[in-house]
Amino acid sequence: MSVHVISIDQYFDKDLLAKLYKRANDFSKLPLADYPKPLQHLTLATVFFEPSTRTRLSFETAIQNLSGQLITVENAGDFSSAKKGESLEDTILTINAYADGIVMRHPQIGAAKQAAKVSRVPIINAGDGGGEHPTQALLDLYSIQQCRGKIDGLSIGLVGDLLNGRTIHSLVQLLAQYHVTIYLIAPDSLQLPAKYLKLLKSNGATIHQVDNWDKALGKVDVLYMTRVQKERFKFVEDYLAIKDSFILTPKQVAKMKKEAIILHPLPRVNEIDPAVDQDPRAKYFEQVKNGLYVRMALLEYLFKH
Ligand code: NCD
Repeated sequence: MSVHVISIDQYFDKDLLAKLYKRANDFSKLPLADYPKPLQHLTLATVFFEPSTRTRLSFETAIQNLSGQLITVENAGDFSSAKKGESLEDTILTINAYADGIVMRHPQIGAAKQAAKVSRVPIINAGDGGGEHPTQALLDLYSIQQCRGKIDGLSIGLVGDLLNGRTIHSLVQLLAQYHVTIYLIAPDSLQLPAKYLKLLKSNGATIHQVDNWDKALGKVDVLYMTRVQKERFKFVEDYLAIKDSFILTPKQVAKMKKEAIILHPLPRVNEIDPAVDQDPRAKYFEQVKNGLYVRMALLEYLFKH
């Protein structure tokens, strides 16, 4: 049976998270020369129809660190046969002939699910438009756990494009498993879709929806910043009008708790002033590194389970 990773709500319960995070932590401590070789003779394909730096390179590093092999189409929209009009299904069936697993990013919501319908090998959703980005949520939660030692009891501020941000959509579904207070900090037009709000509420999370963060900054233990997703806007004027709603500068960081942490899935555009990088609370580049270990743990789990 193929174990696809399409949505974070599939089977990532607390037990599995604990298992993956323990393994990720093990990997983070091992020198590269001592890594096991669990994925020898296994080939992973990375097929990205949208730009990526971290997600693609971390999966590619992860498979190679575990002694697997890699084939890749970096700019699949232009350089795969999709450009000639091939259907997604045919592209996926073709890659099935070469690879034991496919990491795919695509601009359309639901594309990963569509691919999984025909694929005999696992599809890992590396972002489907404004839908989900489950593996990012895995590393985001891991980063919170690593920095704060727990999830229960934390106050978490989610900032920026909560409407279109697929990392947000996956992360809130993981957070819904815990006792958390969530500040949804966004302009009204970019607030969290109703279905995720409903899920958080029905799981007992305390929710504050705000479009001004002055009061929230001093209350959160985790500030999760996001980029306004320009590519999801129909009219560039609408994007321009809203893109600078929340910009984190040292002045804002000064209002935050001493032990709070700042995360961002990256890339940042201008929503975090680079001057903030010097602050010990800025953890977004550690978060990048965590992505490698969590994806190693995930690949090992999916292919050796
Ligand atoms: C995010 C994505 O692609 O959804 N990036 C990532 O994978 N780390 C966030 C974004 O593009 O804003």
